[in-house]
Parts: sequence; C-alpha cells; structure tokens
Amino acid sequence: MKRRLFVTTALPYANGSFHIGHIMEYIQADIWVRFQRMRGHEVHFVCADDAHGAPIMLKAQSEGITPETLVGRIAAERPRYLNGFHISFDNWHSTHSPENIELSQDVYRKLKAADLISRKTIEQFFDPVKGMFLPDRYIKGECPKCSAKDQYGDSCEVCGAVYAPTELHNPYSTLSGATPEMRQSEHFFFRLSDSRCVEYLRQWTQDGKLQPEVANKAREWLDGEQGLGDWDISRDEPYFGIPIPDEPGKYFYVWLDAPVGYLASLKNHFAKGQALAQTAQSYDEFIADPQVEQYHFIGKDIIYFHTLFWPAMLNFSGRKAPDNVFVHGFITVSGEKMSKSRGTGISPIRYLEIGMNPEWMRYYIAAKLNARVEDVDFNPDDFVARVNSDLVGKYVNIASRAASFLARFFEGQLADVRQLPAWSGFETDKHSEEIARCWENREFGRALRVAMEYADRINQHFDAEKPWELAKDPGQRERLQQVCSACIAGFHALTIWLKPVLPALAAQAETFLGCAALCWDDLSNPPASIGRYEHLMTRVDPKMLDALFDIPAAAGSETKAVGTDSTKSKKKSAAATEKPADAAAQSSTISIDDFAKVDLRVARIVAAEAVEGSDKLLRLTLDCGEAQTRNVFAGIKAAYAPAALVGRLTVMVANLAPRKMKFGLSEGMVLASSFDDPSLGEGIFLLSPDQGAAPGMKVK
Ligand code: 2FM
Ligand code: ZN
Repeated sequence: MKRRLFVTTALPYANGSFHIGHIMEYIQADIWVRFQRMRGHEVHFVCADDAHGAPIMLKAQSEGITPETLVGRIAAERPRYLNGFHISFDNWHSTHSPENIELSQDVYRKLKAADLISRKTIEQFFDPVKGMFLPDRYIKGECPKCSAKDQYGDSCEVCGAVYAPTELHNPYSTLSGATPEMRQSEHFFFRLSDSRCVEYLRQWTQDGKLQPEVANKAREWLDGEQGLGDWDISRDEPYFGIPIPDEPGKYFYVWLDAPVGYLASLKNHFAKGQALAQTAQSYDEFIADPQVEQYHFIGKDIIYFHTLFWPAMLNFSGRKAPDNVFVHGFITVSGEKMSKSRGTGISPIRYLEIGMNPEWMRYYIAAKLNARVEDVDFNPDDFVARVNSDLVGKYVNIASRAASFLARFFEGQLADVRQLPAWSGFETDKHSEEIARCWENREFGRALRVAMEYADRINQHFDAEKPWELAKDPGQRERLQQVCSACIAGFHALTIWLKPVLPALAAQAETFLGCAALCWDDLSNPPASIGRYEHLMTRVDPKMLDALFDIPAAAGSETKAVGTDSTKSKKKSAAATEKPADAAAQSSTISIDDFAKVDLRVARIVAAEAVEGSDKLLRLTLDCGEAQTRNVFAGIKAAYAPAALVGRLTVMVANLAPRKMKFGLSEGMVLASSFDDPSLGEGIFLLSPDQGAAPGMKVK
C-alpha cells in the first residue's frame, strides 16, 4: 500500500552555520526519505530555520542589525550545504513566517480553550542595563558551594554543585556585566501537570513505538518524584518571537513556536503548489488525514521537547500527534566530543571546499548508524578504509571490471542473467528484502553490511571465473558474457540498494546502465546492455583528512601581542631579542598557511572589570559572534579603566587554546600594541577595527 509520509529533521537555530551534527542528522533523514521515495511512497520532507529566541535577538543586536537580517543571512548559506551533501528537502522555511504565527497562535488559543493555559507571577533576574529579563545562560556568578568565580546559573564546573541562578553569589549579567535585579513578571504556562496531559503522554510515550531508551527517559520524566511540571511558554519583551494573542508585551518562548515550524513549513510547501505532484489534498486535509504518518528525526538532547511538549501541544489543540520521533546520538571524532580548539571539529563547508566527495561522508555516516540512540564516531582512518575498501574496492570495482569485457567482445550487450544457474546462488531477492527492512528500521549500518557481503559474492564469482582467461578462448565467449552480465546485474542490484545513500553516484550508474531513475522494484528488470564505462568514484586520499582537521594548531599563549599578562609577554619579547641576530631573521617570515592558522575575530567587549588580586589584569567578557560570550583576561589594566572599554570593538585570537589561570579560565586573547622596549615609550594600545565591523567577523 502506498504510504503517505510527512518527515522532518529538527529545525536548526538561525544564528549560526550548520555544523557536522546537523549534516549527520540530515543525511540520516535524507537516506530514509530517499528510500521511501524509491518504494513509491508519497513523501513530504521539510525543514526550516528556527529563527526566534533571545540568543538570535542579542547576536543581531551586537552586530547592529535586525534579527530578520541575521536570519536572512544564515538562511542564504543553507543551500550551499544542503545541495553540497545532496540533502533533498522538499521545502525550507522559517519559524519567523506568517504560517508559523498563525499556527502557533492557533495552538495557543486551542490550549487555552481547553483550559490548559494558566498564568503565574514569577521572580526572575532582570538586567537593568540591557533592560531585559535574563535567560539563565546569561547569568554568571560565584558558586554558592565552593565560591568558584564565573560559574553559570545552573551548575558549577569546578565542584559540580547544581543550583538555581538565584543562589549564585555576586551574580552578574554576561551581557552587560551589571548586577541583575530580581523582578516579577506574569508568565503563561501550559498546564502539563493536568491529569489529561499526564495520562495522554503516558499512553503516547509507552505504547511501544518509541526507541526503548527514549521511552525509558520519558517514563522517568513522567513518573519521577517531581512529576510533569507546567511549562513556562511565555517571555517578556524585548524578545524576538511571536506575540501571544491579546497579551501585549508577551511572546511565545521559542520552544513553543519551533516545532510548530514543522507544520508551518509543510503548509508553505503546500501553499507553493509543490505538493500537488503528490496529492490533491489541501494542507488542512493532509495534516488531518489519519492515513498520513508524521515522523521527526531529532538528536538526543531534545527528546524532552519532542516526546512531552510537542505531542501534548498537538493533541490538545485538536491535531494529530506524530507517529514517531527517531532519535540519534551525537557525533564524536576519534572517540572524543568535537572541539574546535583541539582541532577535532569537522567543518562541513571545509569538507566540501577541499573537494571531498559528499557521498563518502554519506556512506560513512550511514555505515555507522543504527536505530539506537548511540553516538556516531568519526574516525579518520576508519573513514578512509571504509570508503576505499567498500565503495570503491567492492561496489564500483564490479562495474569497472566487468564493463571492459562486455564492451570489447559484446558491444555492451548482456546475457539474460535470470536464466543462469549461477544467478540464483546470489540470492538477490533475499538480500533485497533484508536491506529494505534495514532501511525502513533505520538499521543503516546493517543494510550496508548486507550489501557489501553481496558485493563480496559478486567479486568472488568474477575472480573464480577468471574472465581474463575466458577472454583468451573464443570457445568460452558465451560463458564470458554470462559471467560479466551476472556481475553487471549484481552491480545494478547494488545500485538500487545504495541509491538512498549515494544519489549522485546512482545517477551516473543509471546512465552507464542505460536505465531511467531506479526505484526499488527495478530489481526485477536487470539491464540488457550497458553504455560506456566512465570512472564512477575516486578513492579518498588520506592527505585530505589532514587538510580537513588542520584548523587551529593553536597559536600558543606565547604570542607577542599583549595578551593575558603584559609583564610576561614583555619578558618573552625581551628574551626573544636576546637571541642571536639571525634568530630574528628566521622568525621574521611565516607562510600564509601559518598565518591562516590564527583565527582572528572582531569582538565586542560587553563587560570589563578589574581582577581582584591582580594589578595587571582586566577580566573582559567578549561577544565574538558565538552563542556564548567568552571570558578573557587581558594585561591592560594600567592603560584602561574598565568602564571605558564596555561596548567597544577589538580584535581577538579566537582559537587560542583556553588557559586556566589563577583567576579563572581565559578563552582567547585580545590584541594590543606596545613597544617591546619601554624606554622607547610607554603605553598599551588596544586594537580597534574601523566602523562597520561586527563581532564574529574574521580578520585576515
Ligand atoms: O535544538 C535546536 O537546535 C532547536 N533549534 C531544535 C528545534 S526542533 C523543532 F522543535 F523545531
Ligand atoms: Zn562550586
């Protein structure tokens, strides 16, 4: 039966470029979707930018642009990545859209009508300088347990204590440096603690559809000591979000309207007429149709939102809840959490820019994925080995080996393999069924293992029959054609099975096989002839992996620029001048590649203060265009009053290895100039970019 599928990935925040974690999720969902399309099912695969929330608003502010401009700039980069990795979304939209406003407000109105919205006055930190309530992530202070400085509002990185932001000693706003004040505000809550919600969610999460580890998590949340709490869905202005109807100055918390963005993108897809090729239904008919299956691919960090809030929002606003959410783990690199500063981050755009084949990545990710919530490890050596041995050595090799004999002796004509006794031995149908089951159940690694075992059999057949010897004997022509035809039929089957992973390679293979776009059922139509064989895929050159990871190689804390402590850097400079004269000459030139290793960025000083116990240092809070500000100690106290620095732009070394100092962690270095020899002149001069520069801009 033809299935009708509505599929999404999680919506990425619109304040940054895609990272490899996004690409991994999109590849996973894309493979699943392409498989469903090949099965002849109706699929609507959509995504959107998650545009709202405080971080986006603040980032835009720090750049002196509107959030809409920021979101637009990020949205404009998306196609490069998506096309680059062959991600076949049917639509890309934004949560900052008319559809999403209408749908989110409608969800809210229906929840309110169902008596599931309550109001409560809460106390929250307020930044008097910024004039806004502070999300917890923008509050730091001293740990109430161990007094460690600069700890976030939820837990202490030094002693591990967990607490509320209100418990911090000497709290400060990381946005302005100001001491936050406690203020009251009325908030709106989705009453998830209502017995209707709890019962509904218990049923929805425990009926066997969720992955076992996801169902367990949900059970812990539902049955834990605290039970399910009401969910705070409102934020006060200023906020970049969707206004709550009839409640001036109140906006939906970004996580309320973000998942509604799934529906908004689908609705937009229908409105553009793009769905017409597949269905005559309107958006409203489609989304209410009990036959339509709705699936969301998400990461393990957002299970809570997708298994509790989202199904409840949908159900109690009179909509259909998702049929399932498919949860994946994170991506690690050689067993470690990715870290840009250690040079282990994989930049997807760099991957494409250095000419690495996107299908290598698709294949590798697929090979590592299963239906469990496990992290996927990217291991460079394993990557090279798998791609080269499986894809090139096994699959592509079959076509290249067999094609030359068929072209040379048979003008590309193939024997009908279905008549050959050897053919049944390959058990092609059995493999096909198993691989289809694996794709369906998201056991991708297993699907590829089964396919590669089949490729091994085909290659073994070729080796055992020795076509290069058969070719020498004119009496063996028929056998030669049969052997090579069986190989090509095997290649044809493999192309069908691998096509969800390797769409571009499959398109080339289709040309070679002289067939139209392959779908799953084409297994029963092996090709009758082949065209000219063109090289299908090159091997990975291991050097490319070096280039992929060769990002930071941190400049070290020895840089001559005035950094974390001017006395020390001056001492080092002095030491350098004491070296023999030719040492200066040796160090006077570096290659452009060396220079490129230093990630220089424009940063805005959002807060500055003297450091107790140091007569040299100022503690700077820098906005360098990332989601979080950075803490940097700079030896510039002698030259600058902290207040004079707040708000100004400077230049920082962003990829300097973080350095633990007596006063806390320094996460970079600002650039300033001074004479090495104080007799030539005193003073430290912080660098500033010209007007128009914005935090996060690269300096090169
Ligand atoms: O965690 C995130 O990156 C969110 N932007 C995901 C939102 S998914 C959906 F709800 F929109
Ligand atoms: Zn502590």
